[in-house]
Amino acid sequence: MSTQSLIDVVVRHRELQGQAVAVLTLADPAGAPLPPFSAGAHVDLHLPGGLVRPYSLCSNPGERRAYRLGVLQDPASRGGSVAVHRELREGTRLRISAPRNHFPLAEAAPYSVLVGGGIGITPMLAMAWTLHAAGTAFELHYCARSRTQAAFLDEIAAAPWAQRVHLHFDDDGAPQRLDAAAVLRAAPAGRHLYVCGPSGFMDWVMGEAAQAGLDSAQIHREYFAAPTAGTASTGEDPAFELVAQRSGKTVRVAPQQSLLDALKGLGIEVPVSCEQGVCGTCACTVLEGEPEHRDAYLTDEERAANDQILVCCSRARSPRLVLDL
Ligand code: FES
Repeated sequence: MSTQSLIDVVVRHRELQGQAVAVLTLADPAGAPLPPFSAGAHVDLHLPGGLVRPYSLCSNPGERRAYRLGVLQDPASRGGSVAVHRELREGTRLRISAPRNHFPLAEAAPYSVLVGGGIGITPMLAMAWTLHAAGTAFELHYCARSRTQAAFLDEIAAAPWAQRVHLHFDDDGAPQRLDAAAVLRAAPAGRHLYVCGPSGFMDWVMGEAAQAGLDSAQIHREYFAAPTAGTASTGEDPAFELVAQRSGKTVRVAPQQSLLDALKGLGIEVPVSCEQGVCGTCACTVLEGEPEHRDAYLTDEERAANDQILVCCSRARSPRLVLDL
């Protein structure tokens, strides 16, 4: 695997919105245009202290003078959001990856229902800009605990697609709550759903979508955290043999060890970002054996294909796993 080329940027603007969301504007230090990106893309921030974390781009993909993203300060953070809030100020220089997109819009979809829960609104904003520019019909539902905790409200109100947005605040009472089943049933035939937010919220919306008759090809999702956290190893998992085919190396992966650590022990570095099975950065090709998938990234179809594995969190169901490394 090649090391990704990184981009030097500076924090041009930083503001706190919705009480706990740092909204950052990142730009080239010399003002040059940044690489293009498509709606749903994220970049990895290489943070002071060495952490690397992925965050969705929320700005208009047609705008290349800067990237914008929103980072919720998460009390359960493993360090990423805390580092962003504490270390990144206006003028801070940092490096980021080029944008990558694991959550793209389906080009042929005639109608899109975008649903963002909390900070899950970020990729939906970029999608709204793209769909608006393409003249494709859509509706955007933004669910948050309360108006005061919701970021991006001014930006949404000023956007040319503001009339397509429905706001749902938990503290506004039942009529304001999102009725996902009704929304999806009322949307025109051929609709596609895009959902991002807390895992319980997403599971609920996707369950409603299935009830409303959407098939899996019409449902697109991006998790911020794996539904079952900390799953790389419970310490009670069986050991298995790992073969890195191209490198000609074999190692036993111990019950309490992750695949990623075992690979490091062999001197094989795999790029990682979220390290919890949600971003797809660490995907490796499986040549033999059966993965035990513990990520929240691969679709059911991709799991069934049995040809890739996210090594930051998944393990092997078979006694031997051969990877194309
Ligand atoms: S590093 Fe994000 S899925 Fe493994």
